[in-house]
Amino acid sequence: MSSGSDKLPRPAAGAPVAYDPPDPPASPDAGAPRELELAGKCFVLCVTGSIASYKAIVLLRLLLKHGAKVSVVVTPSAEKFVQTSTFSALTGEATYSDMFGRPGEPHVDLARSADAVLIVPATADCLARLAHGLANDLISALVLASRCPVLVAPAMHPAMWEHPRTQHNVLILKSQQNLSLIGPVAGEVASGEYGLGRMTEPEEIFEAVRESVTPNDLAGRHIVISAGPTREAIDPVRYLSNRSSGKMGFALAERAAQRGAKVTLIAGPVQQRTPRGVERVNVVSALEMQEALGAAFGPQLENADVLIMAAAVADYRALDSSPEKLKRSDSTLTLELTPNPDILAGLGARRTGKSPLLVGFALETAAEAELIGLARQKLIKKRVDMIVANRSEALDSNESTALLVSVRDCQELGTRTKPVLADDILNWVARKLAVLESDEATE
Ligand SMILES: Cc1cc2nc3c(=O)[nH]c(=O)nc-3n(C[C@H](O)[C@H](O)[C@H](O)COP(=O)(O)O)c2cc1C
Repeated sequence: MSSGSDKLPRPAAGAPVAYDPPDPPASPDAGAPRELELAGKCFVLCVTGSIASYKAIVLLRLLLKHGAKVSVVVTPSAEKFVQTSTFSALTGEATYSDMFGRPGEPHVDLARSADAVLIVPATADCLARLAHGLANDLISALVLASRCPVLVAPAMHPAMWEHPRTQHNVLILKSQQNLSLIGPVAGEVASGEYGLGRMTEPEEIFEAVRESVTPNDLAGRHIVISAGPTREAIDPVRYLSNRSSGKMGFALAERAAQRGAKVTLIAGPVQQRTPRGVERVNVVSALEMQEALGAAFGPQLENADVLIMAAAVADYRALDSSPEKLKRSDSTLTLELTPNPDILAGLGARRTGKSPLLVGFALETAAEAELIGLARQKLIKKRVDMIVANRSEALDSNESTALLVSVRDCQELGTRTKPVLADDILNWVARKLAVLESDEATE
């Protein structure tokens, strides 16, 4: 009945088109799978009988790809649209379609195991069952038994959605504390008509799911993150730089924003998309990065709570960069370099109290056994709170094997994808901020 087409909603004739300056073109890695970001999370995906049922498979694949464990429940009507074998082939476990015939109490067991229950798509009938607290099928029973977030993505013909009965049910559902509706959206439905009733696309539902299990523990904090390399001009067409891709800094910015922080991302020249909700400042050289960081923090470093210096700032720049392109010749060319300012150490020296929290990175080619010692030396020299120590293999890679080294502690994290490492670093930051706040309250 609804939501069967992948076509985008038709724009209204003559509608103004807003100009949004484009992001730099995405690198092949931009939008690369953020593997295992949902590792350890369990979802119950409930599929009801709509033409949009097949889109639940897309959502399931996204969840699995990101490391989640998913149990799937399908109603008898949904089975008319999609085969349970598709779901069980993907999850590796039998699909639930009934409350009976299994040991235990599936509705209670599933509800207890879930970090979130997802009803995708949700039919009008399903909305009615949920609104009125029925428990005569596995989905409505498990929703009654759930205390975790329940995310419901309705899909139906616009006439069904607009109907006062459905709207009454929607009102009841909106007042239920742990339940949220995602969509429906306006667009083309299966009949070819346009209207409100089309299911929100699985990719957008996935973002809402991720949000529902993401802590909001950085809300109210301003975090400044630097990312990428810097480029130091030799002449108008040549520069010194390094292999940093910016992936770590961009992953940190994305996750910090998702966890509620206000994020300023000072980015060197990289081909990465700006994460949603992040304010990006593009810079080229180390001196520009220093200036942008100074502007973000303010004269007394009072404007932000945290700096995570993930940028690979060039240590040196050409003493005199030539305004003209250097000409080729047969004699040797000596390039004189001068050290760039150590931006992080500069901020460490300027900090008088415990704020802002300063986190640096140490990228070493030394053997792993020496990493902790080198990171501690850096920590003390630069007067920062924590150093993320990793080996140079992390440059331009999707993964990193890191240690979180603070004055008293050293956390060995093993090999992780950068988004997962970003969460570990932000967990440390969130804990440290909470400790500082409670210390302040007791002083
Ligand atoms: C071809 C077809 C498409 C349907 N599409 C929808 C739909 O998109 N939304 C909806 O609310 N009902 C739709 N229905 C009706 C539901 O399948 C029906 O109300 C069913 O009882 C819902 O059961 P369930 O919620 O347990 O899956 C459709 C029915 C058919 C035959």
